Amino acid sequence: MSILSLVAKHVVNLVPYASARRLFKTSEQGAAKPVWLNANEAPTGKQYTLDTSLYNRYPDCQPDAVIAGYARYTGLNKEQVLVSRGADEGIELLIRGFCEAGKDNILICPPTYGMYAISARTFDIGVIEIPLINDFQLDVDQVIAQLDNVKMVFICAPNNPTGTLPARADIEAVIAAAKDRALVVIDEAYVEFAQETALGWLEHEHVVVLRTLSKAFGLAGLRCGFTLAHPTIIETLLKVIAPYPLAAPVADIAAQALSFGGLAAMRAQVNQILANQKAMLTQLTTLGDIELVGAQHGNFILFRTAYKDGLMAHLVEHKVFIRDQSKQPQLENCLRISTGTQEENAKLLSLIEQFYTTQGSTRA
Ligand SMILES: Cc1ncc(COP(=O)(O)O)c(C=O)c1O
Repeated sequence: MSILSLVAKHVVNLVPYASARRLFKTSEQGAAKPVWLNANEAPTGKQYTLDTSLYNRYPDCQPDAVIAGYARYTGLNKEQVLVSRGADEGIELLIRGFCEAGKDNILICPPTYGMYAISARTFDIGVIEIPLINDFQLDVDQVIAQLDNVKMVFICAPNNPTGTLPARADIEAVIAAAKDRALVVIDEAYVEFAQETALGWLEHEHVVVLRTLSKAFGLAGLRCGFTLAHPTIIETLLKVIAPYPLAAPVADIAAQALSFGGLAAMRAQVNQILANQKAMLTQLTTLGDIELVGAQHGNFILFRTAYKDGLMAHLVEHKVFIRDQSKQPQLENCLRISTGTQEENAKLLSLIEQFYTTQGSTRA
């Protein structure tokens, strides 16, 4: 008997999430310094200090300094905040806490972040897809029509990978219709780069907001995210979370990142990234057949080129890594660039320019 016959039926045909780091490993790039522009990370990190003398003890499940820090940052009560191993774990906890295997569904609006569907499928939860319409806006009527068939609706704002913000009136319409029917989960992983937030909607008991330290805070390697919601929802998630979800160093660093100085550094880095992004955008549109897709409310730019395979190969050859998004619906021939430092962006732009001038003849 093959060991494979023991695998859970709903897991057999699953395909793991093709994360940026699974596609190109940081450890396998040889001597030349690679340029990482494929995971929407911040381009630079910061030093933190650690006192390891208490690491003989298990950490708190929800370390107070972290919860209090995030509550202060968002103006919420501590009872509305849950910290987890990245926003990805927040997605998973919501699915595990609210959905029943083999019975319930979640709703997603593709093209969007891949982990909602993958997380659901690993727990044998169905996924109903209502594609974005009209330049990547919510198809409100179709979403509302499905509300009795789903336990939660995931809305990504700003949306990854399109960089668009769903219209606030549309989100409000979904929230109003979902009352007493489904949770509305608004993923704000990129909120610090955008001009608006969903926090105000937390006055509704069925609204959940996801946040992370992976993007604007420059701490993707830390794996630390937040779920913001009514205390009843937070209490439910605490029933399914692991006893020690956050390693002690993670909690210590997160608390420092959320300090007054940490927040100031984050805001300065966000302003720098947005300025770099604006400069890159202007130049990018002058190159080859590049056509911008969506909007730029996050720290990334999505574009279309008929030469996407050749361009990707050229960049990989020079150890500059961006992300192919062309398998997503409506994103044929689309590539996504995470905004890097001025130097990284300049290197990318010069390679793209080189590609179009030297050949640019092999269409995807
Ligand atoms: C929209 C969105 N949500 C959540 C995440 C995951 O965040 P974390 O690193 O906190 O797990 C990402 C990461 O790329 C993302 O793009």
